[in-house]
Amino acid sequence: MRAVCPGSFDPVTSGHIDIFARAARLCDHLVIAVVHNPRKSGLFDPPTRLELIRSGLGDAGVDLGNIEFDEVPGGLLVDYCARIGATALVKGLRTATDYSYELPMAQMNRHLADIETVFLAGDPAREFVSSSLVKEVASHGGDISGLVPEAAARALREKYGS
Ligand code: PNS
Repeated sequence: MRAVCPGSFDPVTSGHIDIFARAARLCDHLVIAVVHNPRKSGLFDPPTRLELIRSGLGDAGVDLGNIEFDEVPGGLLVDYCARIGATALVKGLRTATDYSYELPMAQMNRHLADIETVFLAGDPAREFVSSSLVKEVASHGGDISGLVPEAAARALREKYGS
């Protein structure tokens, strides 16, 4: 199975890294795709987000043998999946709030193109970690170590001058 882990990943968190590593063990081929989300204005540009993901996976010792990295600049995710021959999406679920956000998207993607969404239960130790909260904490000079990969923490400190 060729699957896609899509998201903004602005920036990647240690929770995302856990999901990528587990997703890569589940499928034959995993594409980690940074998707442009017009509802969210980005802090990092997509190439930087991908670089931070790559670096975080490297630090975590994840085997990159069946992992590819890509950008989806626009358009429907299901069209992207059709272009690259992917039949499933893999997403992490932390809380019921994530479920409420993700369920309609999973149903819509299945309605549009019969793309299945596989949900992996998030690591409970990282349930509170999100890219947006990490950015907020970093913007006020708070301690984000361990919440994001080291390269992402450095990039955030540089952005916010802390
Ligand atoms: O990390 P995010 O921002 O929560 O990811 C959401 C994302 C990018 C996966 C979602 O917005 C998406 O799939 N965007 C692509 C456009 C699309 O296909 N929209 C219909 C989704 S049902």
